[in-house]
Amino acid sequence: MPISRGRENRQYSLVSCVTRLRAPGAGGNLSDIEEANGIIVVADDDKVLQTLYAEMLRAEGYQVLLAADGVEAIDLLTNESVDLGLIDVMMPRHNGFDVCRIIKSRQKTLFTPIVLVTVLSSSQDRINGIRAGADDFISKPIHSAELVARVKSLVKLRRLQNELAHCETGLFSLALSSEAKDPYTEGHCERVSRYAVALGEQLKLSSDDLSTLKRGSMVHDIGKITIPDHVLWKPSGLDEDERRQMEAHPIIGERFCAPLRSFKKSLPIIRWHHERLNGEGYPDGIRGEEIPLLVRIVQIVEVYDSLTTTRVYRSALTPNTAIATLRDEVLKGWWDGALTEIFADLIPGESSPICAQPKKAWEITPNVARKVS
Ligand SMILES: [Fe+2]
Repeated sequence: MPISRGRENRQYSLVSCVTRLRAPGAGGNLSDIEEANGIIVVADDDKVLQTLYAEMLRAEGYQVLLAADGVEAIDLLTNESVDLGLIDVMMPRHNGFDVCRIIKSRQKTLFTPIVLVTVLSSSQDRINGIRAGADDFISKPIHSAELVARVKSLVKLRRLQNELAHCETGLFSLALSSEAKDPYTEGHCERVSRYAVALGEQLKLSSDDLSTLKRGSMVHDIGKITIPDHVLWKPSGLDEDERRQMEAHPIIGERFCAPLRSFKKSLPIIRWHHERLNGEGYPDGIRGEEIPLLVRIVQIVEVYDSLTTTRVYRSALTPNTAIATLRDEVLKGWWDGALTEIFADLIPGESSPICAQPKKAWEITPNVARKVS
């Protein structure tokens, strides 16, 4: 399928990113990730121990930043690009527990691993450390092999988390940049995501399901990145080949996101958002209960947003007319009627998240000929 060079490069860089994350089998061979060298903050008011720990870590290729008390440790952990903090429990100006608690309470440093150095026999230190959010403990006297093994493991995990976060951000950016090319669909994914979460909250879905809805909605049309602009923007009358290209976007989107484990639960949303309850949808023609609840939610809000925004092939409908159209389509056997009614109840009210519609006066266009959205 022809795609522009710019798109191609964006795709390949992302594929490269997720390929490095993709692991054989169960999905995780840390040794495949880049080497575990990193930047470590060593915090201890005992200069001899501080130097000893630093030498152990430098011998393994880590860069070490030294802190003599809690305040210095917090400053380095907050303002430097640090992969891990090795923090002694007993220190002046904030002990190790305080440092850990503060670092774990800040969004910027929440995921920075903290290893607390404790006295061997102190189980209370460990309990306090767990409460403060410590990732691991190491007891004095420290043995080089143990220190290096724990640091290496946590730094690799940290790198893996960073890669994953970058890939997710990349996917969202790609989805947004794709729709931003078309002034008629700009903002569509974010609105669909917002509406889907609002409907999910109304249904009292779990936070895990809400996250799945949010992710899946944001990237549900990411497969359109491969559709040529002249097909994407064609007002009407797609020929057979063009329709085939258009209808391939759910499968392409699913393949695109499949390597990312955090998107695993969202894949049905991406693949099946154009299915219909009566089996007339695509790409698989599944029907009824075969279409999962989260997919049925996205279907309704996705159609609603498409109907209430102007498209190249028609004017926007008012919210009420859009709901009436959805109800007509429920009668045709396309969408879930119960979900449609719950969604319809969300629309009135100034505080409703659904109410953030474009503010133009919408002209009602009867008998809308819907194009693939
Ligand atoms: Fe779509």
